Amino acid sequence: MAIRIIVLAAGKGTRMKSSMPKVLHRLAGRPLLGHVLDTVSTLNPASITVVIGHGSDQVKQTITQSVNWAMQTEQLGTGHAVQQALDGIEDDDTVLITYGDVPLTRSDTFKGLLDVTSKDQLGLLSLIVDDPSGYGRIKRVNGSVTGVVEQKDASEEELKINEINAGVLAVNGGALRKYLGEINNENAQGEYYLTDIFELAVKAGQTIQTVHPEDEWEAEGINSREQLAELERVYQQTQAAMLMAAGVTVRDPARLDVRGTLNTGTDNEIDVNCVFIGDCSLGNNVSIGPNCVVIDSHIGDGTVVQANSVLESSELGAGCHVGPFARLRPGSKLAEGAKIGNFVETKNASIGAGSKVNHLSYVGDSEVGARVNVGAGTITANYDGANKHRTVLEDGVSIGSNTVLVAPVTVREDATIGASSTITKEVSAKSLTFTRAQRTDIDGWKRPEKKKK
Ligand code: UD1
Ligand code: CA
Repeated sequence: MAIRIIVLAAGKGTRMKSSMPKVLHRLAGRPLLGHVLDTVSTLNPASITVVIGHGSDQVKQTITQSVNWAMQTEQLGTGHAVQQALDGIEDDDTVLITYGDVPLTRSDTFKGLLDVTSKDQLGLLSLIVDDPSGYGRIKRVNGSVTGVVEQKDASEEELKINEINAGVLAVNGGALRKYLGEINNENAQGEYYLTDIFELAVKAGQTIQTVHPEDEWEAEGINSREQLAELERVYQQTQAAMLMAAGVTVRDPARLDVRGTLNTGTDNEIDVNCVFIGDCSLGNNVSIGPNCVVIDSHIGDGTVVQANSVLESSELGAGCHVGPFARLRPGSKLAEGAKIGNFVETKNASIGAGSKVNHLSYVGDSEVGARVNVGAGTITANYDGANKHRTVLEDGVSIGSNTVLVAPVTVREDATIGASSTITKEVSAKSLTFTRAQRTDIDGWKRPEKKKK
């Protein structure tokens, strides 16, 4: 009585015009097949088998979920594809079959199908649409489903039916094996149709119960890049709706992309064209300006990130101020109230409470204490061409503009560095240090003049 999942993903996806198998194209940053596998694994199945063919090596390499792979070397039809995945399926198992290119079916919809499926009944996901063209049509007599006819095999009358087969179904394992043994390829496409099992089931005295998805897009498959873009927007609109319901002001739900998970508190504000990638979180009262990219980063209460900032694998404490045009590279950690201003790049650097790096600086492989001020144009020269070295600026340090800190180097507490210095050795606490070329003045200096030809 186990639940077994079969996902069909052997097709080429000709209309994608791509060297990559269709199911590996990404929606919200994840392969289409990855979405399906994540959803079906919430059903606690005994096994998930994915039928692959075109680009099978690439599919196996890319997909991270652990599944069984079944090879279908020739795409002879959906019925033939399922036949390749019957290993290990017991007679009293319930088998759920779906497609790797239909990414957004809800887990509740799959559950609905499993709920109606028994030894005597098959579950079939169907929906009523305005334009049924291209889909298999659901045939009914006196309200009961009698079969599914493919578009290319349908009569004039059948083509008018606007209840379509979404392609997802659930069926008893023994019955599935039996009917698949009976189907043939004598039809308009010369394929073994999975959908032929419905007529066989009805003939054998079983009933077919249709289940409808809550939203039409749950049943939508991707055949072209245009459809991929459409479903991406559907997905992103639902993400935006969830964020707003959780208390986030989203300036324009049509201009927000979440490619991963974004956990948030309340009263956060996200301006237009922001992209969140991977695992991100916002505390409360966070403000993200327009055009920001936030990757695997966590942002504390009341922090403001201004326009055009890029944050990656960074941790920002409460009350920080970042940007506009800041770049926080992996390993950047800002303590409470820290400020990173425009055209500043940080990497693998912790910036202490209340410290400021306000303009045009690079702070990498550094440990910056509290209340430090790093003047404009300061560079930590952390790389000697072979190895990276650390810079330590202790609490209360003040670095003048245009300073080069040649790592490894430490500036002790409350020391001051004069502008335009190159610091190669430790600076002691509370001192003033500067290196400066001597100034030269030449009176009456004549600039060179252009020679006449
Ligand atoms: C199928 C259904 C149709 C339904 C539609 C919904 C059949 C015969 N028809 O038609 O009733 O309305 O889906 O989208 O099932 N695949 C394989 N191996 C194959 C053939 C297909 O793995 O030999 C996979 C494809 O990669 C794809 C899925 O099965 O993910 C559906 O195949 P496709 O050719 O798109 O079926 P349709 O003709 O659209
Ligand atoms: Ca299709």
